[in-house]
Amino acid sequence: MTSSEARLGLIGLGTMGRNLALNLADHGTKLAVWERDAELAATARAALPAATVWADGPAALAATLPAPRAILLMVTAGPAVDAVIDALRPGLQPGDVILDGGNADARDTARRQAALAGTGIELIGLGVSGGEEGARFGPALMAGGSAAAWDRVSPALTAIAARTPAGEPCCALLGAGAAGHFVKTVHNGIEYAVMQTLAEAYDLMRNGLAMAPDAIGDVFAAWNAGPLEGYLVEIAADVVRTRDDDGSPLLDKVADRAGQKGTGRWASLAALDYGVPAPTLAVAGLARAGSPGDDERRQLAGARPSPVELDVDDLEAAVHAATLAAFVQGFDLIAAADAAEGWSVDRAAVAGVWRAGCILRASLLDRLADAARTVPAGALLLRADALAAEMHAVLPGLRNTVAAAALSRFAVPAMGSALAWIDGISRDRVPADFLQGLRDRFGAHRFERTDRPGSFHADWRGE
Ligand code: 6PG
Repeated sequence: MTSSEARLGLIGLGTMGRNLALNLADHGTKLAVWERDAELAATARAALPAATVWADGPAALAATLPAPRAILLMVTAGPAVDAVIDALRPGLQPGDVILDGGNADARDTARRQAALAGTGIELIGLGVSGGEEGARFGPALMAGGSAAAWDRVSPALTAIAARTPAGEPCCALLGAGAAGHFVKTVHNGIEYAVMQTLAEAYDLMRNGLAMAPDAIGDVFAAWNAGPLEGYLVEIAADVVRTRDDDGSPLLDKVADRAGQKGTGRWASLAALDYGVPAPTLAVAGLARAGSPGDDERRQLAGARPSPVELDVDDLEAAVHAATLAAFVQGFDLIAAADAAEGWSVDRAAVAGVWRAGCILRASLLDRLADAARTVPAGALLLRADALAAEMHAVLPGLRNTVAAAALSRFAVPAMGSALAWIDGISRDRVPADFLQGLRDRFGAHRFERTDRPGSFHADWRGE
């Protein structure tokens, strides 16, 4: 093969980049690649087909590709992406497409797309989910950008994507601009929330009900056979059953300090920016942020949780309700961002792309896709009768679980926030009237009335 036969450029051969490259190669896409790190390059060279074209830098890589070029960046999100785009630019021409497959902040993607506007060079922000296994054998791919650019690159990417149980590829252009990276950010925000919910369930079973890890694993496995079926529930069973070399539960020796790279956090920041109540996403990020303060926690430790009075069926319902809440909040956030940015995101298409390959893959996505098709564009998905009925059925279990946890001193921020959220959004009147009264009392911020239109100020001195 001559270098001019290479069809897709790929920069960055860390684990994700290498696995995507192998997946692309398996599906017949010829590649031209560059990796800055010699060790990573050597590992990838040993694994990739001999026909792969190896460039010694971004400019050389661009030169090996026939126009119009398509170049996928799998480099660490942040300044490295700007540096690679800058290095590529002189070798690119109108019609060329750059895809950023990193976990980029959607605002960075929008900025980079704006900087390329008018050059004829297009940037597609490509959310990639599924971890290293997904990248190798079938990721979920969430694209944002122009349809013309996407049409040029979609066949190669569609070929490597995961497939839903119905056989649909989990790969789509989800909207214009930074829509793809925004959807991936929300995916990660929901990922944090579902993981936190499962962690709270684990805590209640292990420490509140004094269940053995294998028994907890059996509970997660049973949940995975019902409406909670999904990847995170499936691997929860594996994680809890795993033993250390001495046969003791490995989790008991894992430091209780959660890491995070930040994408889940961006979802919460976006929720605040777009004014969307997504408390379950937010508290999940905050719970991780608080976990490293273990010295402080141990200083304050004293009043230990007591055994909890709880039915495991109620706990399943609580996990179900909180998971549903997290997804609905995330979809609501996507709708609000879409309304503000004009991306034209179809939420049913998002649910379809998340149905397989990604960390959030779960059968619930089918019900969410149905709900998205049922409600008016942008409306809360819980307005769909079937989804509302599903939530209604599991709400008593959530209420019992949160109450039992509180009485036994277990912190359940994800479950508690989900309950407060659903109780808040299903009230016809909330105490925002009182907030308006306070605001107008101390700052003459004015208020609206229920009995007549207009903006009002009152003398609130209680006379
Ligand atoms: C995925 C994941 C992935 C994410 C990791 C780590 O969809 O494959 O979301 O992209 O980077 O899950 O995230 P944290 O380190 O923030 O937990």
